[in-house]
Amino acid sequence: MADRSGIFAGEDPFAIARSWLAEAEGTEPNDPNAIALATVDKDGLPNVRMVLLKEIEADAFVFYTNYGSAKAREIEGAGKAAFVLHWKSLRRQVRVRGLVTREEGPLADDYYASRSLKSRLGAWASDQSQPLSSRLALMAEVARVTAEHGPNPKRPPFWGGFRIRPLEIEFWADGAFRLHDRFRWTRESLLHDWHIQRLNP
Ligand SMILES: Cc1cc2nc3c(=O)[nH]c(=O)nc-3n(C[C@H](O)[C@H](O)[C@H](O)COP(=O)(O)O)c2cc1C
Repeated sequence: MADRSGIFAGEDPFAIARSWLAEAEGTEPNDPNAIALATVDKDGLPNVRMVLLKEIEADAFVFYTNYGSAKAREIEGAGKAAFVLHWKSLRRQVRVRGLVTREEGPLADDYYASRSLKSRLGAWASDQSQPLSSRLALMAEVARVTAEHGPNPKRPPFWGGFRIRPLEIEFWADGAFRLHDRFRWTRESLLHDWHIQRLNP
């Protein structure tokens, strides 16, 4: 594309996403990898919440959560999800829509093992998205799983990653007079090549 250059240069959208995130790591006050993750429930009602993007792979984005959570149920019901990254400091956003599968292999084990012991035990203790009678009840559950799993807890079978393989990725950057730059990568299926277009702001 003739007029795609600078921060939009290159053919690989994952490389651009990685480079924008690396830039945001230097400018955002915290959590530059926070994404607003959108799902739909069984009635088609949208839902959205923040999660942390943990990997930008060669062809996918990975985050971690509880497989019993509302988001997990919604993702697995639809097989699809979308997310947006927005950096106020850079005035840029990245939008992603795609197909989702679980990451519950060695990568999930490694990421789980890299977390603090308190976070690892917290994953065991929290029945995410379910009603909780009190903060005290959660603390009692943390004490119980600490006694049960000790200082080296294994990754809970109900906790792991989701891998989003995009069918669409859009990069947006603020421009003068609201004439923002937008470039969208789309592909018909995961096996097709990307098609790149500039979009009206
Ligand atoms: C900045 C930020 C990062 C978060 N990161 C995660 C995360 O990586 N995984 C996760 O399960 N929840 C994360 N949460 C909590 C979720 O937003 C949400 O409250 C929780 O996952 C339950 O969502 P659900 O009931 O829709 O499944 C994060 C919240 C914030 C504000």
